[in-house]
Amino acid sequence: MTLTLATAPASKTAAQLNAGIAYHVCMDLNTVDHLLSTTRSVRKRLDLTRPVPDAVIDECIQIAIQAPSASNSQRWHFVVVTDAKQRAAVAGCYQRSFTLYATPPAGQPEPDRSDPRVAQALRVRDSAQYLSDHMHEVPVLIIPCIEGRVENAGQMAQAATYGSILPATWSLMLALRARGLGSAWTTLHLRYEREVCDILGIPGTVTQVALLPVAYYLGDDFKPATRLPLDERIHRNTW
Ligand SMILES: Cc1cc2nc3c(=O)[nH]c(=O)nc-3n(C[C@H](O)[C@H](O)[C@H](O)COP(=O)(O)O)c2cc1C
Repeated sequence: MTLTLATAPASKTAAQLNAGIAYHVCMDLNTVDHLLSTTRSVRKRLDLTRPVPDAVIDECIQIAIQAPSASNSQRWHFVVVTDAKQRAAVAGCYQRSFTLYATPPAGQPEPDRSDPRVAQALRVRDSAQYLSDHMHEVPVLIIPCIEGRVENAGQMAQAATYGSILPATWSLMLALRARGLGSAWTTLHLRYEREVCDILGIPGTVTQVALLPVAYYLGDDFKPATRLPLDERIHRNTW
């Protein structure tokens, strides 16, 4: 990729202009930064009625596999589920797991609704419940997988294995978002990973890492989310 120095690129973001940072720019940073900061977990805004062409999914996966993998091993696989019966079976596993996840242990105190974090959590819970209820209606379910199992492996092998599929999974969500498709990173179906293997014929030697429900999204755009302050999260030179 050729980098060119643009002294006053039209694509500089407001944050960069404020910081007075000189960038070597070869692409429209406004668009790139917008994509990176507004790729949300889409649940209630999935269009459950609009078909998704196979070619769009293939194109996004083609882009996703530009991601890095340990020793360039490329052990990734993407199981794209569009058949209604298969989707319903996978969604059933997800829904059973969600029910366990969403059932609070007995004797839990009522959450303090004046706490803004609680309000955010309640919104996510509501949205997650919606996704669970409608998972079987989502037109495409994608399960990113990687060859190998790491239950008994050390930290380095675990990091190399997950690190060789999770970047591609996020790239896939970004590529989908750029084409008007929403998704949400989910993992709850993994409580029943073996059952999902049986439903989809995934070999037992392969690890599933996520389940992405994919559909065109409703509405125009998404907003950046509120995150914890950066200065609490960056450690310069020492922790
Ligand atoms: C590893 C991981 C597992 C997740 N599992 C689920 C899940 O099973 N179901 C779900 O609805 N959302 C799941 N999420 C989505 C998070 O709830 C979401 O990323 C978080 O609330 C922040 O929202 P945002 O993605 O819109 O910024 C998961 C996210 C990650 C990174």
